[in-house]
Amino acid sequence: MIRILVLHGPNLNMLGVREEALYGQHTLHDINGLLETWAKKEGVQLEAKQSNSEGDLVTWIQEARGLFDAIVINPAAYTHTSIALRDAVLSAEVPTIEVHLSNIHRREEFRHHSYLAGVALGQISGFGATSYLLGVQAAVDHVQSTQSASS
Ligand code: DQA
Repeated sequence: MIRILVLHGPNLNMLGVREEALYGQHTLHDINGLLETWAKKEGVQLEAKQSNSEGDLVTWIQEARGLFDAIVINPAAYTHTSIALRDAVLSAEVPTIEVHLSNIHRREEFRHHSYLAGVALGQISGFGATSYLLGVQAAVDHVQSTQSASS
């Protein structure tokens, strides 16, 4: 069974009440519910975690090595600041997909740069909760194609 770790970064616990015009009305609980329903239907093992702390996210990425086949992460504001998250992705060697609810390229200039993008498989940005569903689907497709290439 394919194992996917979904990580939510800082302030995403505030979804539903936070800047609704940008991030929509879905709470983090709603998004995790959508992902769980999707995972059951697809027969995928999915674990979702949120932290406001950069260190937690670094540790969870490191620990994913050998335990998960792919990571889908919304690093939130750490996208634009964190070399530590980038280094964690490089050291864990777990294929990682970056997702954002809003389209970061249509927003303030400081959000256009992502420290993660250069080490991620790809970035999905701007589709609200659907960004996560596209992210986990892309993760499964990637894992399946890598597994079938190596068998
Ligand atoms: C975000 C975009 C980031 O720029 C911002 O800091 C967030 C959320 C998004 O999902 O659109 O907290 O990652």
